[in-house]
Amino acid sequence: MNLLSVHDVSDKQLKSIFELADVFRLQCSLNQIAEKQHFLRHMFQQLSGRIVGTLFLEPSTRTRMSFESASHRLGLHVVSSGSSENTSLVKGESLEDTINTVSQYVDLLVVRSNEPLTDVFGNYNFCIPNKGIINAGDGPHEHPTQAMLDVYTILQHHKRTDKLHIGISGDLIKSRSIHSLIGLLGRNSGNTFTVFNPTGEELAKEYEPTASIFHCETEEQFKRFIPKMDVVYLNRVQRERWSEQEKNAKNIRVLSFDKSCLNLLRQDAIVMNPGPRLDEMPTLDDKRIVYFEQARNGLFVRMAILQHVFSQ
Ligand code: NCD
Repeated sequence: MNLLSVHDVSDKQLKSIFELADVFRLQCSLNQIAEKQHFLRHMFQQLSGRIVGTLFLEPSTRTRMSFESASHRLGLHVVSSGSSENTSLVKGESLEDTINTVSQYVDLLVVRSNEPLTDVFGNYNFCIPNKGIINAGDGPHEHPTQAMLDVYTILQHHKRTDKLHIGISGDLIKSRSIHSLIGLLGRNSGNTFTVFNPTGEELAKEYEPTASIFHCETEEQFKRFIPKMDVVYLNRVQRERWSEQEKNAKNIRVLSFDKSCLNLLRQDAIVMNPGPRLDEMPTLDDKRIVYFEQARNGLFVRMAILQHVFSQ
């Protein structure tokens, strides 16, 4: 199976991935859970020795290292290009040929690209003789596995993924993490989004949720909604994706979620950021901020995703 978008995963599949992530999380903290041992042993036998490729054509800390660590923990082998500079892309090879070539060597490929993979797939014949491709972030488009670990983290804290008020402050045009989060939580009409974009634009039509969404025009307007929010999701302005000309033309006003904002937030709410955090998240000094918990959950959810894709 290819996991290119959050829409490639059904709610039922998501539930079983999260259940498996729970097993891995508990196994890590308890070291063993007796009744799962047989099931885990069988699973590890099936995965043992298979090869995951990581082809990351944009910088990454969390996604790549958690995918590689997840693979090793499952007994899989990993081959990696390192960075795009080490591939024949620098000689002028097309992304399609690179993906097709690498696919001949691995059983599953994890790709981070700078262009939408659904476009690449739509325009080209892929000859992938293996289990498929997982999108690890494709330009400004989507980041499905990030959204899955984000929703897993929300579920741990709120015990539900519906009837949530989600506040989002970030680059609604270029943030793939925000697009995928809205894609996953927004298919549930019981949720509500209140969003603020430091660059001023509204979300593109293709990412619009079924759930209701309210665009704030000012930082002050967004702050008035903070007491209602169950989840605050922050993400940096994706400056590397804007041209100099665009950056100069925009009046970028980053909302800094500081102590004054935290003071407005309910005690049971959580504050998230896919990372890396910049000026939008000046402090981690509050128990409602789950920044490193997200990073850690990335490991368990990606272990579960790898197992799920291999079992298809
Ligand atoms: C995100 C990404 O690469 O889109 N980072 C990540 O994978 N954790 C968010 C970002 O870079 O802002």
